[in-house]
This record gives sequence, C-alpha cells and structure tokens, in this order.
Amino acid sequence: MSRLVVISNRVAVPTADAAGNQGGLAVALLSALRENGGIWFGWSGETTPEFTGDIRTTQGGGVTTATIDLEEQDIDEYYNGYANRTLWPLFHYRIDLTEFERDFEGGYRRVNERFADTVMPLVEDDDLVWVHDYHLIPLGRELRRRGMKNRLGFFLHTPWPPARLLTSLPSHHKLVESMFAYDVVGFHTEDWLDSFRRYVVDIMGGTIDEDGCATVGDRTVRTIVAPIGIDTAEFEAAAASPEARFAHDRMHMSSTGRSLIVGVDRLDYSKGLRERLLGYERFLANNPDRRALVYLLQIAPPSRADVDTYQEIRSDLDALSGRINGEYADIDWVPIRYVNRGYPRSELAGIYRAARIALVTPLRDGMNLVAKEYVAAQDPEDPGVLILSSFAGAAAQLKEAVLINPYSAEDMADAITAALEMPRAERIRRWQAMIENVRAEDVFWWCRLFLDALEGREVVGDTAQIG
Ligand code: ADP
Ligand code: G6P
Repeated sequence: MSRLVVISNRVAVPTADAAGNQGGLAVALLSALRENGGIWFGWSGETTPEFTGDIRTTQGGGVTTATIDLEEQDIDEYYNGYANRTLWPLFHYRIDLTEFERDFEGGYRRVNERFADTVMPLVEDDDLVWVHDYHLIPLGRELRRRGMKNRLGFFLHTPWPPARLLTSLPSHHKLVESMFAYDVVGFHTEDWLDSFRRYVVDIMGGTIDEDGCATVGDRTVRTIVAPIGIDTAEFEAAAASPEARFAHDRMHMSSTGRSLIVGVDRLDYSKGLRERLLGYERFLANNPDRRALVYLLQIAPPSRADVDTYQEIRSDLDALSGRINGEYADIDWVPIRYVNRGYPRSELAGIYRAARIALVTPLRDGMNLVAKEYVAAQDPEDPGVLILSSFAGAAAQLKEAVLINPYSAEDMADAITAALEMPRAERIRRWQAMIENVRAEDVFWWCRLFLDALEGREVVGDTAQIG
C-alpha cells in the first residue's frame, strides 16, 4: 500500500481527546491518517520573524506530523487575508463580507510556494499526495512545477460557489486553472460538484465526460463527490464512556427535567448563529407555556479572532444572547447558556446525548460534522431530534432530520415545537435511518473512496465506487 502524504493548513494535535475547536477537517484527517499511516504536513500555528523552512516533526497516535512556522506577513496576507477574508466568505456565498486585496493574493501565492518547497523533499516516489481545502488550491501546480510526478489529489471542504459568484474574484481563472494540476478533485456534495463543472463548461469552455473528467485544452482532472464522515465507531464508544456519562449527568442535574437543545459550532458567521438565536427567541415568544421547559446550550469556541468579521459576529452574539436572557430569564431559569470554549470529544458526546434537540443550522456549510456526531451519540432507545439546515452538505445524506430554512425564524420556531412534540416511535425511525448512513459512510469509507479514485481504481460516473 502506498504511503499517504496529507497536506493541509491546519494540522491537529494527534490525541484522541484533544479539547478545542480543531474543526471538522482536522478531526477527520486525524482518523484517516491513523488508519493509513503516513505524514501530515502543514502550518504549526506559530509565527517566526523570518521564514526558514525548518520542519518540526512529531510522532503520536500512529501519525507523523511535519509542520513549519510562517512569518507574520504570511499570516496576515495568506491565512487572515486571502484564505479567510477572501475565499472563505466568497465560497460561503457571502460576497458582502468578501475582501479583494492584491496583497492577499500575493501572500497566498508565496505561502503556497513555501509549502511546495518545504514538503517536496519529504515526498517519496510512490506516495499518494492529498492536499486539502481552500488555503492550498494552487499547491498542486507548485508541486508539479517542482517536478512532482506522484498521484496528486485535492479535496475542498467548503461549498463551491456558483459561477456567477466566483467570477467576482478578480483572479478566478487562475485559481480554477491551477486545479487542473491535480489528478482528482473531490467535493462533499453533488451541488458543489455541479457548480464546479458548470464553471468549467460555461466560463472556461471545457468539457465533462461521462466519468466526470473535466477537460480544458490539454489538461484533464477527474472530479468526484465523496461526502466526508466521522469516526462513527469511535464516537459511539465515546458516547458510552464514563466521561460522557459524567457530562450527561451534569447536564441533567443542572436542568431539573428541562429539555436541552444544543448547538455546537465554531464562532463563524457561516454557522447561522445569529439566525439560530433569533429563531429560538421566536419559539420563546410563541410558546409562553413551554418556555421554562427547555433551555438552549450554545457552545461556540472563538475562531479566526484576528479577522474583523469574526470579531463582529462574536460581539453580535454576546449582545443577542444577553438581550434574550435579559428579556426572558427568571430567577431559576435562563433560556440560553452561551459558552465560548472547547470540550474534550468524550464530554461533547455526553452533551449531545443529553440533548433532546440539536440545532445545526448553518447558512451554508460544505458538510457539517456536528450533525453526524449528534446522531452517533444518541441513545438508540430514546434518541433526540436533529434540526438541520437544508443548506448544509450533510442534508444530502441525513434526509430524515427535520430539515429547515435557517433564514426563517418561524421555520426554526415551528421545528423546535415539532421536535418537542415528536413521538418516540418517530424519533427512533428517523434516527435509525440517519445512523445507518453515519455508520456506513464514515470517515474511513470517505478516505477509501477518494484514495481509490486517486489510485486510478474504478470510478463510475460522479461518485467513486469502492472496488
Ligand atoms: P467546521 O469544520 O466548519 O468547524 P464541522 O461541523 O464540520 O464544522 O466540524 C466541527 C468539528 O469541531 C466537529 O468535529 C466538532 O465536534 C468540533 N468542535 C466544534 N466545537 C467544539 C468545541 N467547543 N469543543 C470541541 N470540539 C468542537
Ligand atoms: C473548516 C475548514 C478547515 C479549517 C477549520 C477550522 O473546517 O474547512 O480547513 O481548518 O474550519 O478553521 P481554522 O481557521 O481554525 O483552521
């Protein structure tokens, strides 16, 4: 079996129970690398006065990580700049928040070149090289320019926006052209894949063949759908662990018979947190007799705190949760517990299991793993209800969730009422359909699906088939 070299901006600390908000990508890749073996290369999260290209390696949990420090200017222009002020908002349909600065683009190119220079000597001839996410789209081209002949794959963990939006990016052509340096490019859903293909056909004048190969001029790249999953077995076990039990009991003891509604998200405007609180407020306003029977626990660890749009969403939520609590709280009850910290995964599993309802209501999300974790953590005899945005990639798989439009406070309020009233038999029926999917299409399935396609094993139509 070939060795796997994974390259992503963020490299997770390889411990099973790291507390924090590592994000879906890091959590999933850690699981995948543990199974396949190989190296995980990326940014250390640290800055250095001058870029040296020195590589720090660590071994742990069956995973070797190799990381580099970046200069402050790199962080400003590449991470806080092009990645998180330009591409992230644009790819999440927020052109109103998208900043277009040439310096950002320069920093993005420079860091991608630096990644290519440093990782090149670590790669052996037979390695499969798998690049992840919007920070590193042009890395494949840089690696090819340096003579890399390996099979080279790319996976996008965010949505791919419609061509009409993408073309507002001044260098959209160059960005998409660089994706043709890869052998395989993967997306989480048919929607994102279709948008990519439409761009290739409508804007680049390219073609798509029946195997999903996109061709422009003399370059071809195979495009596939491979929806990412979680390490379901690990998460189900975590939900039954003593730590989970402890967190579960703690929630119950502090709620004296009230139904817990939970939300767990990085503090990001794409997660629809504002709209969620407004929807919950609508539920409180519409249901005076039910108010004190529920409470919302919103866990939202801060993210990308140097970017002003993230500072704004944070202060918005501070104000909004304070206002709702001020208006509705009583001496023995607050409607919202708003917590800005990370939790170890087993505790998180216990919290999910204690929750009668999960609100997973992003305005746009590549996939959303919290939805899958919530399903995996449920008690099969008495599962809770997942209220899921139909704009999350996960909605394509979790069709038995209560699907809502997250922009509508009324939809959200009605969904909460319906979830509270839902008979146990219906909750079990919906949960069984969802857990079947979460077990079958787990992170290992996703990883095999992509790597089979990358190794050139059989790929039929849009979705790679496991041979
Ligand atoms: P994103 O990748 O955009 O952050 P996902 O829902 O796909 O969104 O993944 C988020 C991941 O981060 C999940 O695995 C979730 O459990 C984890 N996470 C989010 N918030 C916390 C938290 N407060 N403590 C621990 N883990 C968290
Ligand atoms: C999303 C992105 C990841 C990113 C994560 C956390 O999942 O797709 O690439 O790592 O958010 O964001 P951060 O900026 O902290 O790495």
